[in-house]
Amino acid sequence: MSAGYRVRQAQWPGIRRISWLFLYVFIFFLSPSWAADTPSNADCLACHDDKSLTTKRGARTVSLYVDGKKVASSIHSSLSCTSCHASLEGKELPHDTPVAKVNCGTCHSSEAELHAKSLHGKAAARGDALAPRCVNCHGNHDILPVKDRRSPVAPLNVPCSAASAIARARRCRRNAPSSSTTSWRITRRASTARAC
Ligand code: HEC
Ligand code: HEC
Ligand code: HEC
Ligand code: HEC
Repeated sequence: MSAGYRVRQAQWPGIRRISWLFLYVFIFFLSPSWAADTPSNADCLACHDDKSLTTKRGARTVSLYVDGKKVASSIHSSLSCTSCHASLEGKELPHDTPVAKVNCGTCHSSEAELHAKSLHGKAAARGDALAPRCVNCHGNHDILPVKDRRSPVAPLNVPCSAASAIARARRCRRNAPSSSTTSWRITRRASTARAC
């Protein structure tokens, strides 16, 4: 009986190695079909890594270049392109356009709720083109933790927080835009809209 036990012990590592081998082979054959179902970041970047890729929006020419490194070093590095561009999940490439707008609220429901209740959200719901949306304050592909000093919404970068009236500053910290280039535009827009 003790001999049988020893034999089984001796065989066990070999069996395990063989089943791992099967698993690898299985995954190897499986992965190309996965890639076809759910586009990987590399699939998207095969086209969007091209700096000369643009599209026309009305009279404007908009760059469709995406810096994969920026996305990979953002707070969203663990997400795939299609986590945000959810309408392309499981779609064949090349995709149709227009691509549906990203809904940050699918993951950030409490922030989306707060935003919807705020003056900004109400203005956006009325169709006010100047109302700041999530991306106007936070960016899209390069979002950092809000506590990161490089983040446009880090407390020190929010211009309104420098306002002398503490109450006003507090309200602004919740609502105010950043000091990045886009946000300067927003700052002007926001103050026009009397958001601060
Ligand atoms: C075969 C090349 C190709 C691949 C692969 C590709 N795209 Fe595109 N994408 C384009 C082109 C070309 C346009 C611009 C189309 C136009 O001008 O109408 C575009 C436009 C877009 C737009 C802007 C759409 C709009 O409405 O203006 C987004 C967002 C986008 N792609 C995201 C992605 C994502 C995410 C992936 C991966 C799931 C991806 N693309 C894969 C070629 C590609
Ligand atoms: C955190 C969410 C998020 C992730 C992850 C993400 N995107 Fe985006 N992307 C956005 C948002 C937001 C926009 C702005 C347009 C919109 O609101 O839909 C955008 C815009 C784009 C555009 C159009 C450019 C423009 O100015 O409209 C392309 C192309 C694109 N993304 C491709 C990609 C690719 C490729 C990846 C993966 C490497 C990726 N995105 C990952 C959120 C994301
Ligand atoms: C007017 C600018 C503005 C808009 C619009 C905006 N945010 Fe924010 N957001 C901020 C600022 C500033 C902070 C920093 C938090 C603070 O100090 O109050 C923040 C914080 C956050 C945080 C971190 C939350 C935490 O508890 O620390 C998340 C996540 C977030 N926002 C997501 C969103 C989403 C999703 C939207 C759209 C529905 C959105 N934001 C719209 C300015 C904005
Ligand atoms: C698929 C889910 C998903 C989507 C869609 C998404 N996020 Fe996030 N987001 C996350 C996760 C998960 C984290 C936390 C990552 C971590 O802490 O490591 C995060 C973190 C953040 C933070 C940093 C919060 C902090 O505590 O500092 C901000 C700001 C943020 N997201 C804004 C956005 C905005 C704006 C959009 C839309 C353009 C968006 N997110 C879309 C999942 C998502």
